[in-house]
Amino acid sequence: GLSASAALARRPSITGAELRSALPLPPPFQVPLPIPAVAAPVSTSGGVDRYAITQREASVEILPGVRTPLWTYGGTFPGPTIESRRGRPVTVTHRNELPVPTVVHLHGGRTPAASDGYPTDLVLPEGRQDATPHMGHGMPGMHAGMHDPRAVVTSLTRDYTFPLDQRPTLLWYHDHRMDFTAPAIWRGLAGLQIVRDDAEEALGLPAGRRELPLMIADRAFAADGGLAYPALDPTLRERPGVTDPYLAGVLGDVILVNGAPWPVHEVDAVRYRLRILNASNARHYELEAVTDDGRRLDLVQIGADQGLLAAPVTHRVLPIAPAERYDVIIDFSGVPVGGRVRVLNRLGSGRTRDVLAFRVARTATDGSRVPRTLAADLPAWRRSDAVRVREFAFRTGRMRGGHGWLIGGLPFDPARSDVTVGLGDVEVWRLIADVHHPVHLHLVGFRVLSRNGRPPLPHDAGLKDTVSLRPGEAVEIITRFDGYRGRYLFHCHNAEHEDMGMMANFEVV
Ligand code: C2O
Ligand code: CU
Repeated sequence: GLSASAALARRPSITGAELRSALPLPPPFQVPLPIPAVAAPVSTSGGVDRYAITQREASVEILPGVRTPLWTYGGTFPGPTIESRRGRPVTVTHRNELPVPTVVHLHGGRTPAASDGYPTDLVLPEGRQDATPHMGHGMPGMHAGMHDPRAVVTSLTRDYTFPLDQRPTLLWYHDHRMDFTAPAIWRGLAGLQIVRDDAEEALGLPAGRRELPLMIADRAFAADGGLAYPALDPTLRERPGVTDPYLAGVLGDVILVNGAPWPVHEVDAVRYRLRILNASNARHYELEAVTDDGRRLDLVQIGADQGLLAAPVTHRVLPIAPAERYDVIIDFSGVPVGGRVRVLNRLGSGRTRDVLAFRVARTATDGSRVPRTLAADLPAWRRSDAVRVREFAFRTGRMRGGHGWLIGGLPFDPARSDVTVGLGDVEVWRLIADVHHPVHLHLVGFRVLSRNGRPPLPHDAGLKDTVSLRPGEAVEIITRFDGYRGRYLFHCHNAEHEDMGMMANFEVV
């Protein structure tokens, strides 16, 4: 095939522009870090935890003193966190009171296909029986499948059942409707789910209020307090060299953590466990933790998207692509009381360099440990285990009369089967990128085998479900397709790229 660098050289000019908020923004590190509320189950009988979430519009204070209308899970952004145990099934009944159809996907869940949130398995708004009209914000659904009644499954409420027979880790749930995922997540449809088990709890890692979920996401605000999102003007994409904030992926100038702008959190001078998710549509970060006197604290990675590493990996700078999760220990014991540690994004500039800050409030005893051996159950698939090697190019191309994003030259089509894999087969997938694409596979966890023919990078360690393909790179991953039969997705998790075609089906048979 064509080499990635040749493809890169031929790509049209695609530069993302950051949306500028039209409101005065608060100074950094003033707003307290919110911790999303943990959802209470409506019942726990029969070994299943049942939850009910109503998707509805809500007006939420994100910027101090400003009301921002959002689409929410249960009235908050992020939605409620679901705390779950490995192997204990969870059923979530979603009721849709939003003005548009929705789809719920549990990212990183090992979920039977019927509950995996296929992009045309819609939860219709209350009182609506038909799927196609009033598709809401964004581009009209132009794929054939949207209008093919066989491809569209609808209901008014929906029970999603998650067996959670998987390694403990941080998952997240978010909207996944075909063509409209990006604006739906942007408007607030995202929440966390944590899977735990006894073995992980026995390690003695920082826990309780010393374990912090951190959902990082950028947004921009319009003058009326609402979220800004680019107008979708297809003619814009026709003019070469024109900066199109939608095509490249939407970036905002406000960095939110757990829904608060540049928050600050008071900590004890001890170790903390940070469970970091990049829930941004398109923004990449390179995180570093810097003290007031300019020292960089170690970010000790203990886990990846799909759970604990075999052993900790120490980073000074941690790159995180959209949808990736990193489980990180940070030790504040060397920071004087009253001192501050800022978490900064090396890839940002101006306001987008700041992310959040910790203020060390007091000394305290630290009963936590970070064992040198964390997990012994990581799959160690070797190249020789693979029954097949496949190659997929993630590149821009023509679609819908403009530029879109394609996998193997094709835009997403729910009616097309792209890849068939045998249940239990180990395969190597070679993923090739033109520009930066974070690639996500549903159902399975994978290991990164190589980058441009070289060994993986330190932050590729462990079991992942999303891998950052850097511009021009070829990345090999290896996985075993086990768990469930059925139709699943793989796609770019730049949410705008995903909506503009960069998604495909794989069928486990
Ligand atoms: Cu996070 Cu297919 O999604
Ligand atoms: Cu992409």
